[in-house]
Amino acid sequence: MKHKDRLVVITGGAQGIGKAIVDAFLREGAFVVTMDLRHGRSASNLVWIQGDLTLSEDRNFFVDEIMKLNRKVDVLVNNAMVFTSGLRSHTPTEEIRKAIELGAIAPYDLILQLSGSMNDSSSIINLLSTRAFQSQADSEGYAMAKGALGSLTHAAALSLGPKVRVNAIAPGWIQTKPSRLSDSDLLQHPVGRVGTPEDIAKAVLFLASEDAGFITGETLTIDGGMSKRMIYHQDEGWIYDPKENHG
Ligand SMILES: NC(=O)c1ccc[n+]([C@@H]2O[C@H](COP(=O)([O-])OP(=O)(O)OC[C@H]3O[C@@H](n4cnc5c(N)ncnc54)[C@H](O)[C@@H]3O)[C@@H](O)[C@H]2O)c1
Repeated sequence: MKHKDRLVVITGGAQGIGKAIVDAFLREGAFVVTMDLRHGRSASNLVWIQGDLTLSEDRNFFVDEIMKLNRKVDVLVNNAMVFTSGLRSHTPTEEIRKAIELGAIAPYDLILQLSGSMNDSSSIINLLSTRAFQSQADSEGYAMAKGALGSLTHAAALSLGPKVRVNAIAPGWIQTKPSRLSDSDLLQHPVGRVGTPEDIAKAVLFLASEDAGFITGETLTIDGGMSKRMIYHQDEGWIYDPKENHG
């Protein structure tokens, strides 16, 4: 129980990876505060605040509620994000701006407002994606936000050290909803499966703990080895079809 009685702030705790992170810290005996667009459950050691993290007034309300607890913040996990497309879909600039607001500005704002209330063993963990480093077409909104969050991670590690450590996790394919997966879906991953939200939550617990005390400014890729696979035309049956790639 490395996080017993610690105050942990998590964005987007209603479902998927965020929910798994909330549950993992609750099992550890932590006190958790989350903001999500959706209504949530209540528990004795869980404060649920409904709000939209793209709105500065909602973020300020979130911070005010955390401050009312009158405790130091031990862990901040910037998790909330929505996929946003890009050029091929002619995604309007305003939607791209919103993606960056949620994926990078909101994390910056929460770090800015909460880091003064952190202690000497506090830690910040930002949820990136392997899409911060590699892409499918038509993912500019998401990729831009994740790239910015990755840069915020190493810059903030320098600004907030030695007091606060700041790291990121870059998940690959994490199955957050039941769906039928083919053998190829699974076997393209060197570990032979896609990820689970719990795979990510376990890594968050580690990075937030003193066991990771010499790790800061780092990004841990958790993708079952998928992004390490080098792909050439006709390799392992994979055919590059230029017709599939018209811009
Ligand atoms: N699932 C994956 O395969 C995967 C892969 C790489 C990275 N990630 C990253 O992991 C994180 C979690 O992903 P997920 O798949 O669990 O997402 P999800 O869509 O299942 O859950 C996101 C949560 O954030 C909340 N949210 C969205 N917009 C919000 C807003 N404006 N204000 C407040 N709450 C908001 C949603 O209501 C939801 O509860 C994200 O940062 C995502 O980019 C996920």
